[in-house]
Amino acid sequence: MSRLVVVSNRVALPEQPRSGGLAVALQAALEETGGLWFGWSGRIDPRQSGQLHELSHGDIDYATIDLSQRDHDDYYNGFANRTLWPLLHFRVDLVDYSRETYAAYRRVNALFAEKLAPLLRDDDIVWIHDYHLIPLAALLREHGVRCKLGFFLHVPMPSSDLLAALPHHKRLFEGLSAHDLVGFQTERDLERFQDYVRLFGRGRVIESGVLETPGGRLLRAGAFPISIDTAHIADQAAAAVDKPSFQRLARSMSGRALAIGVDRLDYSKGLPERFRAFERFLRRYPDLLGKLTYLQIAPVSRGDVLEYQSLRSELERLSGHINGGHAEPEWTPMRYVNRNFPHASLTGFYRLAEVGLVTPLRDGMNLVAKEYVAAQDPDDPGVLVLSTFAGAARELGGALLVNPYDLDGVAAAIAQAITMPRQERRERWQPMMARLREYDITAWRRSYLEALRAA
Ligand code: G6P
Repeated sequence: MSRLVVVSNRVALPEQPRSGGLAVALQAALEETGGLWFGWSGRIDPRQSGQLHELSHGDIDYATIDLSQRDHDDYYNGFANRTLWPLLHFRVDLVDYSRETYAAYRRVNALFAEKLAPLLRDDDIVWIHDYHLIPLAALLREHGVRCKLGFFLHVPMPSSDLLAALPHHKRLFEGLSAHDLVGFQTERDLERFQDYVRLFGRGRVIESGVLETPGGRLLRAGAFPISIDTAHIADQAAAAVDKPSFQRLARSMSGRALAIGVDRLDYSKGLPERFRAFERFLRRYPDLLGKLTYLQIAPVSRGDVLEYQSLRSELERLSGHINGGHAEPEWTPMRYVNRNFPHASLTGFYRLAEVGLVTPLRDGMNLVAKEYVAAQDPDDPGVLVLSTFAGAARELGGALLVNPYDLDGVAAAIAQAITMPRQERRERWQPMMARLREYDITAWRRSYLEALRAA
């Protein structure tokens, strides 16, 4: 089988602690055929971008490049995270566009292409990930690269009217047609992409999933909802019960129920709305007061970006306000924590929590929702409260689906969750878990790579 090449902004290097399930899944895919992982080294070079680092570990080669401070600021903090990220999450109000950061984004993609092209063989399969690298495939083609190129968008594909707000959007999104396969999280994202092609593209949609590029080539497109390592998480969560981190948290609850949220500190996650909905719950359900503690874990993310800094201040103010207004000498309603935890501890926390709160305003998929489900005790599962605007809502119909903007609705769902009879909780949980067992992260990457090989 041909060699797999994965390209992403962040590379999970072998010496780094294994982070998410995605990194592990891509590593497994690379091990199957032998492969190369290419991306940013995670390092800033004070002189210039482009220093290449190569290393091998088992059957996997890693090639990464350093970025200069300016490129990192303008490509990553700038165009990727202050222009594309808000745009792709339907937040045109937060989009900050400048020709300078767009030029840096193209420059860094061109640098990726220049350094990667000589490492590629004609029979490689190249899998490019996410919004940082939209122009890469077209730039690789300019270097004469002929192998199969696939792209997967981890974040949502918004509607055409929103995409059209971006200056030069046609040039940017037309770059996608240099691939053989473009993958999205959900059917809705796929539909919106095809709608965009119909309205603005020079190519055309022949039928759903089959497009013709401006150059007359065939381009495949499909929905491949990303998943988790279900069996591993279920085992990890069951084993976590004996771990000190689990027991410390369990003891600290003093018999109260736990609601948990775990999110990067990002405005797409709907945290201010969630905090306000929790306060609404405290006000509206006096009978339940003191029976539930809400733990929000929100590791700081993209802290150099202004919007993320303001969000952090807002959440500090809100959590202080909520606790100040509702706490008792022996009980604080919410615990707000900005640090990260080892994945094994988190799965234990999910298992302990009677309620999982996943209420993003927009999310490509949201793997916390899936992990919360996988971590539950089959005899006594907790209840997932899930935003309809997360890609995961399309698969997790047993959750209490909420509109995160409807604070009363979220408050009511929290109340319903903590009073829900065990039988109903089981009936809601079982089909979700069955789905996750069948369609796990291995099934995800296999289905994508099969489609790419066949494209
Ligand atoms: C989202 C994106 C990923 C990104 C991750 C963490 O899940 O889809 O591409 O890697 O957030 O964000 P960061 O900016 O720290 O890489």
